[in-house]
Amino acid sequence: MSLLWTSEALVAAMDGRPLGPMPDGISGISIDSRSLQPGDAFFAIKGEAMDGHDFATAAIKAGAGVLVVAEGKLPSLGRLTAPIIVVEDVLVALEKLGVASRARSSAKIIAVTGSAGKTTTKEALRHVLQAVGKVHASAQSFNNHWGVPLTLARMPDDCDYAVFEIGMNHPDEIRPLVKMVRPHVAIVTMIAAAHLGFFRNLDEIAKAKAEIFEGLEPEGAAVLNRDDARFKLLDKMAHAAGVEHVYGFGENARSTFKLTKCELHADHSDITARIGGHEVTARIGAPGRHMVQNVLAVLGAAHLVGADLDKVASALADLSAERGRGKRHVLRHPGGSTSSHPGGLITLIDESYNANPASMAAAMALLNATPVTGEGRRIAVLGDMLELGDHSTKLHAALADLIVGTGTQTVFLGGPEMRALAEALPADIKTEYRAGVEELKPVLLAALKPGDVVMIKSSKGIGFAKLVDALLGKFPAESTARKQT
Ligand SMILES: Nc1ncnc2c1ncn2[C@@H]1O[C@H](COP(=O)(O)OP(=O)(O)O)[C@@H](O)[C@H]1O
Ligand SMILES: [Mg+2]
Repeated sequence: MSLLWTSEALVAAMDGRPLGPMPDGISGISIDSRSLQPGDAFFAIKGEAMDGHDFATAAIKAGAGVLVVAEGKLPSLGRLTAPIIVVEDVLVALEKLGVASRARSSAKIIAVTGSAGKTTTKEALRHVLQAVGKVHASAQSFNNHWGVPLTLARMPDDCDYAVFEIGMNHPDEIRPLVKMVRPHVAIVTMIAAAHLGFFRNLDEIAKAKAEIFEGLEPEGAAVLNRDDARFKLLDKMAHAAGVEHVYGFGENARSTFKLTKCELHADHSDITARIGGHEVTARIGAPGRHMVQNVLAVLGAAHLVGADLDKVASALADLSAERGRGKRHVLRHPGGSTSSHPGGLITLIDESYNANPASMAAAMALLNATPVTGEGRRIAVLGDMLELGDHSTKLHAALADLIVGTGTQTVFLGGPEMRALAEALPADIKTEYRAGVEELKPVLLAALKPGDVVMIKSSKGIGFAKLVDALLGKFPAESTARKQT
């Protein structure tokens, strides 16, 4: 088994105090005893609700090779049967290890921020760069004050590329994180009203994202959305931060990474783009205009870190939308079945992971581009977008613009904020509003008919993933995301 860190390096990087005989080293890093793998170091991080120190025994049971704990907690832990490294503050120790990890790495590093599309872009980069080298990337959306140092500390010393997601809800969150990551390339996917409740306006959001430029390596490059209304502001801020290489991606004629042809299909897209003097033609295995936009950033960043564009472009064909982020399910509906006609199919688009005005627009475009069969309808099942503060009512009502005049005439809404949309929709849109997910579930399940295409989306906290589970539980899978060519 290869070691991620020797115990010696681990102790030195964190300035820790070893207690008991140390193993040669550790094979991984965990902050959660439920997912800990034998041989991992367990870092007892204190979160909002829980304190890792309460799970020290569970971590030992799961096979932790070493426990990293706080000096102040040591007396209350009792006798532990695993080697321990004592530090003053466990999160600070993790950050120090992250910094040491970055210092020993010779990988090309890419950081991704933006109001939507961070995880999608990060996963697409992971996928395409795997075609050209050894890649390390953030797990899930590990993009905050513990997720970023954890991802850094987990980076093997021999990887060729590493991709970091960096997120924020407030100003001054990205700066310290990107200074640990020190990327060669920083991508800002787009600026939109996410977490607007914590900001005065979209310019303020852009300024907070622009902190990412402050951690770029010398000669590093910023990759910005040329089609975004805040491109100029970001461009200016990048230059103000001393970044000389600022590149735009998009449809705009002045983009460096420029889309020249684009065909959108229900389950994939075919594109041609100019990437640094190369003409790249690619099939993207996951649908949607927003995915094309993310892929332009991916191609640009891959080019900047010296990856072979032909290999990268062919890898795009087997991208697929992920659970909660556009994943498709084809389900069998028993309705109208006879011996010669076995009922019909329902297409479910699972967008339940998150929602803000930009991703709502992306998801509604996906729904409207998906063909229905027979008597089938396009159905949008939408729940509250959270953290929009004073702008919330207005932004929920404005979603009507994404629905009226499109191919979607049936809408199910849930959550207190969605009442504003229910009231904004005209009478010819068939609308069912319920207070929450539990009230909505039976109404939705009963309403579905063969041929329907259903798109489910809300902020995570509203819990529309339960509606996805309810559909998957009631209707058997025909196949997932069958590819048509
Ligand atoms: N470039 C984009 N522009 C607008 N919406 C997008 C974009 N990329 C993805 N989305 C939408 O945002 C949702 C969340 O995507 P994700 O990559 O998880 O974002 P993040 O990690 O930034 O929260 C997706 O399901 C999709 O609906
Ligand atoms: Mg994310």
